[in-house]
Amino acid sequence: MTEQTETQQRPALVVDFGAQYAQLIARRVREAGVYSEIVPHTATAEEIAAKNPVALILSGGPSSVYDEGAPQLDPKVFDLGVPTLGICYGFQYMAQTLGGEVANTGLREYGATDATISASDSPLMTGQPAEQNVWMSHGDQVARAPEGFEVLATTNATKVAAFADEDRRFYGVQWHPEVKHSDHGQAIIENFLHKGAGLPTDWNSDNVIAEQIARIREQVGDARVISALSGGVDSAVSTALVHKAIGDQLTAVFVDHGLLRQGEREQVEKDYVESTGVRLITVDAVDTFLGHLAGVTDPETKRKIIGREFIRAFEQVQLDLVEEAKATGGAPVKFLVQGTLYPDVVESGGGAGTANIKSHHNVGGLPEDLDFELVEPLRALFKDEVRAIGRELGIPEAIVGRQPFPGPGLGIRIIGEVTRERLEVLREADAIAREELTKAGLDQTIWQCPVVLLADVRSVGVQGDGRTYGHPIVLRPVSSEDAMTADWTRLPYDVLSKISNRITNEVREVNRVVLDVTSKPPATIEWE
Ligand code: XMP
Repeated sequence: MTEQTETQQRPALVVDFGAQYAQLIARRVREAGVYSEIVPHTATAEEIAAKNPVALILSGGPSSVYDEGAPQLDPKVFDLGVPTLGICYGFQYMAQTLGGEVANTGLREYGATDATISASDSPLMTGQPAEQNVWMSHGDQVARAPEGFEVLATTNATKVAAFADEDRRFYGVQWHPEVKHSDHGQAIIENFLHKGAGLPTDWNSDNVIAEQIARIREQVGDARVISALSGGVDSAVSTALVHKAIGDQLTAVFVDHGLLRQGEREQVEKDYVESTGVRLITVDAVDTFLGHLAGVTDPETKRKIIGREFIRAFEQVQLDLVEEAKATGGAPVKFLVQGTLYPDVVESGGGAGTANIKSHHNVGGLPEDLDFELVEPLRALFKDEVRAIGRELGIPEAIVGRQPFPGPGLGIRIIGEVTRERLEVLREADAIAREELTKAGLDQTIWQCPVVLLADVRSVGVQGDGRTYGHPIVLRPVSSEDAMTADWTRLPYDVLSKISNRITNEVREVNRVVLDVTSKPPATIEWE
């Protein structure tokens, strides 16, 4: 645990009881205009108090409060005088710890459930319809609310489905207000924050930009800074933010490894530079990368080669800049910008520093012999917030609205050896799919849609009078909140048909388009 918060704003703290919902709750809180951070349930009351929280939200969790080893929270947290909302397991934990009763009745509620709100005058339930559809996932029930609590809602199976102690500003709901399947879930979260805890709406992109600019200037002083642009959203926004703070003290570096999609290099070199004014060095490393990838089919080996060559290319520019600074007596190059996001920080333990950030988020990795300090202006942010800031900074929509794209690029979307010709085929097919999805207005519906070339597979087709023996292209449209799990997106048939017709007509070597209808798990999003 660290006492440091990621911004100067006092956070609403989401206590993570180990389910996958903590990040979603933290995002919903921010959507309500309140800054949030996540802490593990193992944080002590002192550690929580040190973060000076304006509210606490106890998340759901996978356990029963009666399970051996069920996640606990320091009960002194309830003496801190901080307004608190318990959700699902957090609700039951609150009930049990504060003197109520949790019973294992054997009645399980799962999925869409009808709830009846019995106390519409409670701040938590203000404006809520008396009958509503909520999303449940629990076995135990709160059988009796603790002393001082009023019951706010019931369901058929649960007599205490929500409660409140207005004096202490303690609230709880058995259902999951953070998921979209709970019809009025976001309103519950907003009611808790604004009416229950009395918090203002003060988290927005203007504030974030102003605060980060001040922080960056303070951290960097007059030293020089470099940044690796990948063409993706995170590096584009972190670079633009740093540029806004320190102007030409920053040099951005873009390595073209030849595994980019159609138009991406131009987007960065032209549109991005025009809109931000960033000083950019492009390294054309296409021949080097493709040379090293020749003959390689194993996905892990491909990844290693691409990662290694990226570091080499970037390192060379870094060394050149360091040398140049020495030769000209300019300010030393001391900092490296990294587009680390809040989910990376949380997943790697929530501490300061970068040692345990997932390697594939660590664009290119940090060269060991160059002693750079990191500038990470997006450490407190979720992806959708990064996009909002990017728009505010005037970065072109084509970059800000981009779907996640893996660091190793098209290199892991060609199943088989990566060659110049195959990359060309895949690039054309991918451009068609993207164009048609955008035209159909589906960019917001899907999380991402990898287009994959099965380069080692051929099948017979017929085109005109002749038989063909071409490759299949796979469309992998997925819906997801965070890429940890995903479902295949039910795209309209006419859009799929248009994409398929265009790809088979316009892209040579491709005579079949197939659709991947697998969720994650068991499959991953990328094919590799
Ligand atoms: P998988 O295939 O593991 O992908 O389900 C999950 C998400 O991560 C992206 N991905 C990567 N992103 N570098 C990245 O920056 C990588 O090496 C990498 N590999 C996968 C993938 O596109 C999906 O969004």
